[in-house]
Amino acid sequence: MERVVITEGPEETVALGVELAAGLRSGDVVALVGGLGAGKTTLVQGIARGLFVTENVSSASFVLARTYRGKMSLHHLDAYRIESLEELFEVGLDRYLPPDEGVTVVEWADKIYDLIPRGALWVTIEFLDGDRRKFTLRRRPAGSPRS
Ligand SMILES: Nc1ncnc2c1ncn2[C@@H]1O[C@H](COP(=O)(O)OP(=O)(O)O)[C@@H](O)[C@H]1O
Ligand SMILES: [Mg+2]
Repeated sequence: MERVVITEGPEETVALGVELAAGLRSGDVVALVGGLGAGKTTLVQGIARGLFVTENVSSASFVLARTYRGKMSLHHLDAYRIESLEELFEVGLDRYLPPDEGVTVVEWADKIYDLIPRGALWVTIEFLDGDRRKFTLRRRPAGSPRS
């Protein structure tokens, strides 16, 4: 079961994030896949808005993880710079996969595929022409050996 949404610009991607946030429960993980500039962080900004996070959400690339306070916690992880699963354990990021409280959103989730819990919501973002982006949402990535 999957859902495809095409957004025409960043505002629509933020709106999609707000909508997704409404369906998230404490303990959920959202796994984002898509190239540089696809709109992963923009979608996280929408999820943050939907969770009533007031702080400004920026790229987590340089810090690997940040937690924001909203109606529940938003743990924003970015696996872009993670070299190995061991490194991820060393810095303790596994404690957010899944989180005890709040939701975790992971950018570049395909880099740490084996650590993404079953039942995570996978969102793949593809570039279309101009500012259009194609979002494919599914509970498990296609071709998953664990499906
Ligand atoms: N439909 C769209 N959705 C999201 N971002 C878009 C869209 N169209 C253009 N953009 C632009 O693309 C960039 C996406 O950046 P960002 O969300 O940081 O990407 P990522 O985290 O995937 O690297 C932003 O500059 C944003 O303004
Ligand atoms: Mg990003």
